This record gives sequence, C-alpha cells and structure tokens, in this order.
Amino acid sequence: MTHPASSPTARTAPLAIVILAAGKGTRMCSREPKVLQTIAGRSMLDRVINTARTLTPTRIHVVIGHDAERVAASVSGDDIGLIEQRPQLGTGHALQVALPALPASGQTLVLYGDVPLIDAATLNQLIANTAADSLGLLTDTLSDPTGYGRIVRNDAGSICAIVEEKDASADQRRISEINTGIMLLPNRFLPQWLAALQTANAQGEYYLTDLVAMAVAAGAAVCSTRVAASHLAAGVNDRLQQAALERICQRQQAHALMRAGLILRDPERFDLRGELEHGKDVSIDVGVVLEGHCQLGDGVQIGAHCVLRNVTLAAGVRIAAFSHLEDCHVGANSRIGPYARLRPGAELANDVRIGNFVEIKAAHLQSAVKVNHLSYVGDATIGSGSNLGAGVVTCNYDGTAKHQTRIGNDCFIGSGALLIAPRTIGNAATIAAGSVITRDCADNTLAIERSPQRSIANWPRRAKKT
Ligand code: UD1
Ligand code: MG
Repeated sequence: MTHPASSPTARTAPLAIVILAAGKGTRMCSREPKVLQTIAGRSMLDRVINTARTLTPTRIHVVIGHDAERVAASVSGDDIGLIEQRPQLGTGHALQVALPALPASGQTLVLYGDVPLIDAATLNQLIANTAADSLGLLTDTLSDPTGYGRIVRNDAGSICAIVEEKDASADQRRISEINTGIMLLPNRFLPQWLAALQTANAQGEYYLTDLVAMAVAAGAAVCSTRVAASHLAAGVNDRLQQAALERICQRQQAHALMRAGLILRDPERFDLRGELEHGKDVSIDVGVVLEGHCQLGDGVQIGAHCVLRNVTLAAGVRIAAFSHLEDCHVGANSRIGPYARLRPGAELANDVRIGNFVEIKAAHLQSAVKVNHLSYVGDATIGSGSNLGAGVVTCNYDGTAKHQTRIGNDCFIGSGALLIAPRTIGNAATIAAGSVITRDCADNTLAIERSPQRSIANWPRRAKKT
C-alpha cells in the first residue's frame, strides 16, 4: 500500500494539476457559481489554485462547465489553462476532456474546486507516498461516511476498488474509509484507462473512481494516504458546510495572528476576510470584521463590533466601538468613534479626533483636527488644529455636482453651521453657530449669519387637549 516515501522536494516526475470545477453546486441555492463562493473573503477556487501553485506544477488546468464564463473570468495567470467540459458527464469525463492537455509522462494531481482548505503539506504527503506508475488516493475515515465513495479493501488490506454510495451494497455502505476525491494519477496509463470508463452505474456517469479497479487489474499499485484532519479534504456542497469551513479557517487565521503577537479578546469572535498586517501590542475587541488589506500600526486598539476594509491605521490609533472605516488612512494617535464612519478617501493626519455619528468622505484632515459630534465632512480639506462643533455639514452637493470645502488652520466652526461648497475659509476664522455660509471667509474673520431673534413675552402656551 504505502510505498517508501520520497521527499517531495526531490520529486523528479513532472507534476500536472487538474482542478475540477465544472459542477453546478445545486445545493448552494445560489446565482453565483459554487467555486466562486468564498471562505474568509477568498473564493474557494482561488484558494485551491493558490495551494496548487505552491507545488510548482508544470501547469494547472481548471475544468470549467457551469457558469464557465464567470469562473473563467475569476482566474488569471500564465500558468493556468482553462478546459471547458460541456456537458458534464462525471468526474471521469472531466479527466477525459482534460487528457489532451496532459503530458504523456509524469503524474497528474486531481483537486476539487470545492475543497478549499486542502493544504500543501497534505498534497506533498500524497505525492511522497505515491510511487511512480502507481495511483495515489487521499482518504479519510468518517463516523458518518454518507454520500462519499467508499474505499473497498481485500482481506489482505489492499485497496481493490472505490464504490460510490449510490452503487454500494448495504455492507459496503458500512465502510467508514472514504475517498476524498483527491488523487494522483500516472499519466502514462491515462489514455488507456480513461478510454475504458463505462457509464453502467447508478448515476449513468463516467466515474473517475473506476480507475482504481482498473489500476488493480493492470497490476499497478494503489497507494493511500490518510488526511491528517477531515476539514483539509472536506468539500462544500451547501451553506452549512461552507460556514463550518469558514469557522475553521477563521480560527486558524486568528491563532496564527495571535502567535505573531496580535491581541484578540476572543479569537472565536474575530473575522478576517483578507490580509492583516499588524505591529506590536495591537488589540482587537470582539465582533470586529476586517476585509481587504488592513495595516495596523504598533499599539492600535480596535473596539468591539467595528468593520474595517482596506484601512491603514498608524501607531497608537484607537477606534472605539461600532465604527465603520473603508479605504482610508488614519494618522498616529488619532481617536475615532464610537459610531464613526470613515468613507473612501478619508485621510486623517496624526492626533485627529472623530467622535460619534460623524461621517468623513474624500477629505483630508490635518493634525489635531476635532470633529466630535454628528457632522458630515465630504470633499474637504481641514487645516491643523481646526475644531468643528456639533452638527457641522459641508454641503458638498448642489444636486448635480460635488464641490470642495477648504477650511484653514485653527478655525472654529460653530455648531450647526452649514458650509455651502465650493467654499474657502481662511486660517483662524470663526464661524458662528447656526450660520449658513455662502461666501468665502478671509483669515481671522468672524462670519455670522443668523436672522434676528424675536422674543414674545408672556406667550400663552397652547393647552394640551385631554
Ligand atoms: C466524488 C467521488 C466520490 C468522493 C467525493 C468526494 C466520483 C465518481 N466520486 O463524488 O468518490 O467521495 O467526490 O467529495 O468521482 N465535476 C466536474 N465535472 C463533472 C462532474 C463533477 O468538474 O462532470 C467536479 C465538481 O464540480 C466537483 C467534483 O468534480 O468539484 C466532484 O464532483 P461531484 O459531483 O461533487 O462528485 P461526488 O458525487 O461528490
Ligand atoms: Mg461532491
């Protein structure tokens, strides 16, 4: 069964990889192709391709069929060949279609586009365990093997066939050793073996698994390798299986980050759907979601339930709970939130303060700017040390176009001021609370725009109707 292991790095036979990704994925109940569904922010197919690349194969072939255009559009790289399988007549048929693209010698590793957590260590083990000219199978033992092809062994314990669930006898269904689907094939026998496949089975399909009995009949060895943990070879057929692998993947990422020093208040309540770079003593409270590429400098603290997508936070930044930041940069030691929203193009220098219910979009805020309450700042620049009171709005949109607001250094913009863009406010200007500013203001001026207050004495307040 298991042949003497050769080191994977010493592999001499060229390796081609075929990733099967033509199936429909009916049970996902989705308009998206199954293999493009994501685990931790990355499509399953992309994950498999990435792992395949680490094995330095001669070429990676992706067999596509259902939603072929969309799957093809998601794949890029000179090392990848797309093979269209139409119609899809089974896993054996997928290899028949791929055969003309495979070299006459060497080995072919078959991967599945919907088995996203397969890793290089497992595949290298399979390769190392499989002698040239023999057939290598990656197997698992499951307490509930329902749905899988079963590994049938003879009395001596050697593998003699794989029988699919739908074709299995009651006895065979009790076998707990299953075919993960991942296998290593000797190219030299493929033309002969694939041509001999029949569809006389319960599903009327060409089964790739029938190659096992053929190999045995031809006297070729069948080598099996047990997967170290079931999730590595687990397929995704429905949303529950997708969620189960998502959690495993998230846990792995969280643990790896913690080993690199990241402080996660609870690794079970942290989601990274992309890449995270972090400095020292960075802490992240529960329920935080990070997407895209995020960079967190030394000492950054993220409060509970924040969402960060493509953000760069310099050292010492603190984001308080329930804040939402996207495509933005925050300078050192700034304080954001709680309940703040930084939208694309928010560029904040150091020591900036952004408080609750403040929205910043496409705006540059220089150092020590304060916008502490209930404000909207969009398409604007704010000079250092300026302070915007509660409810200040840069009125950037006139119904057809966006306009800029420029506020100088050390300005004080009173609460409730509306700055009608395009507008320029000079350095050290003061805008009185409640003013609607429709003209530019020079340096050091006070601008006040209010209608005179009327006070009516002894006003007879209306009585409430009872
Ligand atoms: C297959 C195996 C079974 C194994 C199981 C593991 C066969 C006959 N059976 O069964 O032994 O236990 O996987 O999950 O191989 N695909 C194509 N073209 C096709 C058919 C399928 O590209 O014509 C792709 C699918 O997209 C999928 C993979 O091949 O990625 C497996 O196909 P699927 O129909 O799910 O096979 P199973 O019945 O699960
Ligand atoms: Mg399947």
